[in-house]
Amino acid sequence: MIGRRSWLAGMLGTIALTVTAAEDLHDRAEAVVRRSFSTATPEEWRTRLAQDEVQALCSRHRDAPPAEVAARVVELSRATLRYPDNGRLMGNWREGEKLASIGTGGHIGRIQPDRPGTRKGGNCYACHVLAPKEMAAGNLGPSLAGYGKIHGTSEDAVRFTYQKIFNAQAWFPCTHMPRFGANGWLTPDEIADAVAFLLDPESPVNR
Ligand code: HEC
Repeated sequence: MIGRRSWLAGMLGTIALTVTAAEDLHDRAEAVVRRSFSTATPEEWRTRLAQDEVQALCSRHRDAPPAEVAARVVELSRATLRYPDNGRLMGNWREGEKLASIGTGGHIGRIQPDRPGTRKGGNCYACHVLAPKEMAAGNLGPSLAGYGKIHGTSEDAVRFTYQKIFNAQAWFPCTHMPRFGANGWLTPDEIADAVAFLLDPESPVNR
């Protein structure tokens, strides 16, 4: 009995040590990343190291949060949702098609600032198949070819798709899909155009 108890105590001790070591490693890794941004690094770039609450939670749990943390991530993400002023969540698929293919925009600082007039795109093809005619598509995310044929254009389908693009974490905590609306990358109207590109029966995604 005693042997068994000390074995258990030993195991618990090992688990406690492992957890502490993991936390310690996390903090050390964080410090190394911070140090790699020298004082010569443009100030705007250094702001990228500051995590918001959602990023910090996802990092802590290596993007596999336990249920209560996942619920918090979803709650925080839902709170960011904003809609177009005209209330229309489905815009113009032709505009949506353009922005899905554009991978430019967002160069900052002194090294390679955006040229005047550069349009920020959604770069959706980097991770998804969308219109099947486009040959260059990534596969980090699921194929969205025929997405509108599967989902239709009901109010629920439109709202879900809009929210998904505005802040993917409102539906999938710690996903690797960028939070296009929540971090101000795309405007609500641009997101409505992307929704149309995915759902409109006329869009090449569905033809
Ligand atoms: C960095 C990669 C990445 C980029 C860029 C990206 N996504 Fe995603 N997307 C994902 C991943 C991964 C998933 C699956 C997990 C999830 O649902 O969040 C996903 C899921 C989705 C879904 C839900 C699919 C379903 O069946 O539930 C939609 C809709 C979507 N993406 C649309 C877009 C659009 C539109 C863009 C461009 C504005 C875009 N994505 C850009 C990675 C990406």
